[in-house]
Amino acid sequence: MEIPYRAPIVTDDMRRKALEVLESGTTFGGQETERFEVELAQRCGCRYGVSANSGTSATMLALDARGVGRGDEVIMAANAYIGVLAAVVKLGATPVFVEADPETGNIAPGAAAAAMTPKTRAIVPIHMYGFPCDMDPIVEAARAHDAFVLEDAAHALGAEYKGRPAGGLGDAGFFSFSGKMITVFSTGGAVVTNDRALAESMSSLRDQGRLRDEKISFIRRTDASWYDQRWIGYNMHLSEMACALGRLQLRLLDEFTAKRRKGAAYYTARFRDAGLPFRTPPERPWANPCYLHYSVCTPRRDALVEFLRRRAIGVGIHYPRPLHLLEPVKARYGTRDGQFPIAERLCGETVSLPVGPHMTDEMLARVADSVIAFFQEGRAVA
Ligand SMILES: Cc1ncc(COP(=O)(O)O)c(C=O)c1O
Repeated sequence: MEIPYRAPIVTDDMRRKALEVLESGTTFGGQETERFEVELAQRCGCRYGVSANSGTSATMLALDARGVGRGDEVIMAANAYIGVLAAVVKLGATPVFVEADPETGNIAPGAAAAAMTPKTRAIVPIHMYGFPCDMDPIVEAARAHDAFVLEDAAHALGAEYKGRPAGGLGDAGFFSFSGKMITVFSTGGAVVTNDRALAESMSSLRDQGRLRDEKISFIRRTDASWYDQRWIGYNMHLSEMACALGRLQLRLLDEFTAKRRKGAAYYTARFRDAGLPFRTPPERPWANPCYLHYSVCTPRRDALVEFLRRRAIGVGIHYPRPLHLLEPVKARYGTRDGQFPIAERLCGETVSLPVGPHMTDEMLARVADSVIAFFQEGRAVA
């Protein structure tokens, strides 16, 4: 039996809806888009949502709408995802990498505060694997520097910090919908916020910089004002089809999250019982993670990956290399090996086990048995 790392859940509702949207002729900016944005925002305790054609586009829209650009510094974890780096660099701003917390893998709040300078314009804390960052000290440090807090909640739809939903904890938060907590069956992303002016600006930028009226979502104009622009923007719409499917996926989010939490609790109990020599995902009284990835940390990571792959078990590595050690980053900013030892170690030692809603009890048991067998065989050899 092959155990894939992820597999989409497709329901009859989704099949019917796909056909309906296909036959409606609306390709973007229709009612499904508007409703998806509102429902997503509500889910995160926010007033406004702006969808985009990827999480990377969503990052770009948020930072651009906030005016981040040349001469500005943007703080991010050294072990974060390349999409955030891309948005920052393409806007002409400078990425400032910060060390990770060794236990959570999230940006270390103390290191983030210490990295703030008069040029800091934004901080993008990532809720790694769906485990929320300790946001209070991050927001406090950002406020002291009037910096924009954009949560990278790509992994964290459904996670909570102190009972509040991830994505709604900073000034804005963004999500990705390709193979994440929900999927839109294409690339996709969105930003949620309580800041109306920011939402209007993102919506305009997404739509070639067109003028808005009272609506946040797209409005199709038939007169000459279609070409009236507020500024130069992008075409970053998320398709109507993707939004329609996203709405149906969103209704399953609680079920998906509950399954992931159950799978994660099962793995942790099995690994602790077996006394395995690795770090299981962190637990904190203030965190209710959603476990997009169930990630463990071991110096024998590469051998474990190989062992599991031979048994047809899909695994993930998020991410194999920290941002400061990517070749174009080294060439451009002079970053080097050893600069962020914790982030470097985490990238070398972390592996994610399949825990998605497609996993049956039997599959979970097979993965746990295999991981335990790997370490027990290792002991026998040693
Ligand atoms: C943590 C994180 N941030 C941002 C992104 C970017 O999202 P997208 O791939 O939709 O552009 C991803 C995508 O995998 C991600 O994992």
